[in-house]
Amino acid sequence: MSFAFPTAAPGSEWWRSAVIYQIYPRSFADASGDGVGDLRGIESRLDSLAELGIDAIWLSPFMVSPQKDAGYDVADYRDVDPLFGTLADFDELLASAHEREIRLIVDLVPNHSSDQHVWFQAALAAAPGSPERARYIFRDGKGADGELPPNNWESVFGGPAWTRITNADGTPGQWYLHLFDSSQPDFDWTNEEVRAEFRSVLRFWLDRGADGFRVDVAHGMIKAAGLPDYTPPTDAASMGGAEPVPYWGQDGVHEIYRDWHTVLAEYAGDRVLCAEAWLPTNEETALWVRPDEMHQAFNFNYMYAAWSAAGQRESIETSIAAFNGVGAPSTWVLSNHDVVRHATRLALTIDNPQGEGIGPKTPGPRPDAALGLRRARAATSLMLALPGSSYLYQGEELGLPEVIDLPDEARQDPSFFRTNGERYGRDGCRVPIPWEADAPAFGFNDTGASWLPQPAEFADFSRATETGAADSTLELYKRLLAERAARSLGTETLEWLDRGTDVLAFHTGDVEVVTNFGPAPVSVDASRVILSSEPLTDGALPTDTTVWLTA
Ligand code: GLC
Repeated sequence: MSFAFPTAAPGSEWWRSAVIYQIYPRSFADASGDGVGDLRGIESRLDSLAELGIDAIWLSPFMVSPQKDAGYDVADYRDVDPLFGTLADFDELLASAHEREIRLIVDLVPNHSSDQHVWFQAALAAAPGSPERARYIFRDGKGADGELPPNNWESVFGGPAWTRITNADGTPGQWYLHLFDSSQPDFDWTNEEVRAEFRSVLRFWLDRGADGFRVDVAHGMIKAAGLPDYTPPTDAASMGGAEPVPYWGQDGVHEIYRDWHTVLAEYAGDRVLCAEAWLPTNEETALWVRPDEMHQAFNFNYMYAAWSAAGQRESIETSIAAFNGVGAPSTWVLSNHDVVRHATRLALTIDNPQGEGIGPKTPGPRPDAALGLRRARAATSLMLALPGSSYLYQGEELGLPEVIDLPDEARQDPSFFRTNGERYGRDGCRVPIPWEADAPAFGFNDTGASWLPQPAEFADFSRATETGAADSTLELYKRLLAERAARSLGTETLEWLDRGTDVLAFHTGDVEVVTNFGPAPVSVDASRVILSSEPLTDGALPTDTTVWLTA
């Protein structure tokens, strides 16, 4: 079954300036009432996304999975997990989104499968050296009896990146590589059978009408020949770090995306590939979006840019330069399901960065919630004026903070368990979002069940509470998206203006954008105000505030 998107003019390259909204299916809306969100829940809430004014949805994984890493451990790439619904539900959701002129991008996880995937089960049952084992990365262990892992690599989630299997006769066997959890064995992408399989998976979703893919761990699929030992510097980010890393950013990955580019190009309607590639610099990330490769790559350097005029300007400038250099638009993103929500993160300090999640026992002062929200509103107001495509994460339009007080028993992120609780991990940004203040589970469903407990403060952030409330974050986002669309802002160029060291100011299209990072109020001409992330005080722009002015 296939659905043509109504306004998909060939060559329109809609993705260059699109605002793409990430739905994390388990936490968006739950029609079945079992406490985990589902596809029918999403469909029932599409009107609120149309009202918000987004162009596309990126749907985090909903395929068959034992859910050891919230669906990023796929056991069947061609079917929907019963937890989320059926393929018919997917088709209906896609058709309903398209009716509202909202495109839909599917999350594809090609670096690894679940250990429950038929291929991995077949590999376990087969002998060393067999074609079944060759789809994954099995190796003999080191040491006299193969009792040591084949190399020293560590899992992104903590602990060794290798697990030893037990043979059918009970004797210890080979080891397999998993850059993430032991339930997520890495494929061997040098194997043509793996490549052919994924071309077919791409076609499966493209044939159904999917508008493209967000490609998980797009920088990790090729490992350096010989799998050499590697010890990351202690300050390296778990998914990035200084080059060269034998499992991140290897040149061989590009050939795979060139191949995928040709598959997508066979389909009408400007289908898109977006890379999740954590790389140290924008220049390196830009290699993923050369004209014959992917279309977009997440700009994680921007996400972590310092909250200062200089830090933001540097990040924006280097992003635009690097991506323009290869003819691609820059993307912008402040929150997703892997990082502390920006309404909390922006209140953290350099001494207290807490990048791996925040919990009740995290040392140091709690981030100031009012300050974080204020900065988040200013940051988003700045971001949505920038040339290129912006990604939003469900709930940020409500100003949702990170949930800090999740009890240990409720936590589900494998990184929490694999580090013995040393890292709180990502559950705090994944709590089911509030729709109504006074309903069971805040309107997430009508039974009150919720796979992660929702805090009482979510009542103040519910969509119903914020709808029509003049100062609410939701109404700010609606204004931002409506003005952005009316003024075609994402398609424009940017010209910097000099308003002093604590102020970031630029022209784009018919708008002048000013963000004040400093303590002193900045005077603005009130008659030119289109919108402001906070009210002006005595005709001046207060600290941590962004204003859009008519140019
Ligand atoms: C990506 C996903 C993350 C997942 C990991 C392993 O980084 O965004 O949620 O845990 O890949 O698939």
